[in-house]
Amino acid sequence: MTTDGTNDGFERGRFERHYTERPNVTESRLRLIWAALTTKLPGRTLSIGAGTGDVEAQLRDRFGFSVDLIIEPSEALLPALREKGFETWAGIAEAYPYEPESFDTIYYNGSSFGFIDDENLVPTFTKNYEALRPGGRLILSDVPKESSLGIALLTILNNPGIDREPYRDLLEGTAFFDLVEGGEPTYKPNWHVIPYYIDILRKVGFTDLEFKQTVLANTTYQDDRPEDPVPGYDKGNYVAIIATKKA
Ligand SMILES: C[S@@+](CC[C@H](N)C(=O)[O-])C[C@H]1O[C@@H](n2cnc3c(N)ncnc32)[C@H](O)[C@@H]1O
Repeated sequence: MTTDGTNDGFERGRFERHYTERPNVTESRLRLIWAALTTKLPGRTLSIGAGTGDVEAQLRDRFGFSVDLIIEPSEALLPALREKGFETWAGIAEAYPYEPESFDTIYYNGSSFGFIDDENLVPTFTKNYEALRPGGRLILSDVPKESSLGIALLTILNNPGIDREPYRDLLEGTAFFDLVEGGEPTYKPNWHVIPYYIDILRKVGFTDLEFKQTVLANTTYQDDRPEDPVPGYDKGNYVAIIATKKA
């Protein structure tokens, strides 16, 4: 069920905190999205589902790269984006009034497309495709369902009443595990293996797909050191798909 931006379970402080709880994973994720964004010059760029914009702020501060627009539905998180000075549109990716061929890069970081209902994925990615200029790119960065992190998070999501203690040494500090608070997890509701998204992107019309992956270790060791991304999607706990529209 897609969000109307209210009562989505997001809490700003908790959201911002998760970036510092596993700093090396945050660094590896930043390197992944930056590597994906820079397979060519990003040009006019739209970020969809940016949360509190900590990643966008890092891209700006570290690399001097500023996104042109952010689509974000969460009433709880939008103030953080505005305080960081980003241009925002409040609402969901499905409903944004896209102008044809108006962006060079559109990206969903941190699995934000996993909040879009399955039946709306092809229509929404088609709108994204049409909003891209020739040669433009749609980038999806995800925790794959088939990764060790994905399997563990999906287990918690599907069993909200589960005793989380046995998962502590696997998941402590991961986004929204909410171990301390004992709250409901707020990570993406829709989980699929990477080939599912490859299939969808091809249906939408993308022919040129590239992949980068990072955080290759099992969950317990993921924060031991930062990693640079490597090509492929079959090992990473974080994967970026870069889909390019024909020039
Ligand atoms: C897991 S967070 C990812 C945040 C950030 N991109 C990151 O990588 O840390 C998912 C974000 O997607 C947003 N979101 C949820 N449903 C959405 C939708 N239908 N369209 C656009 N964004 C959505 C949420 O409000 C949240 O900010």
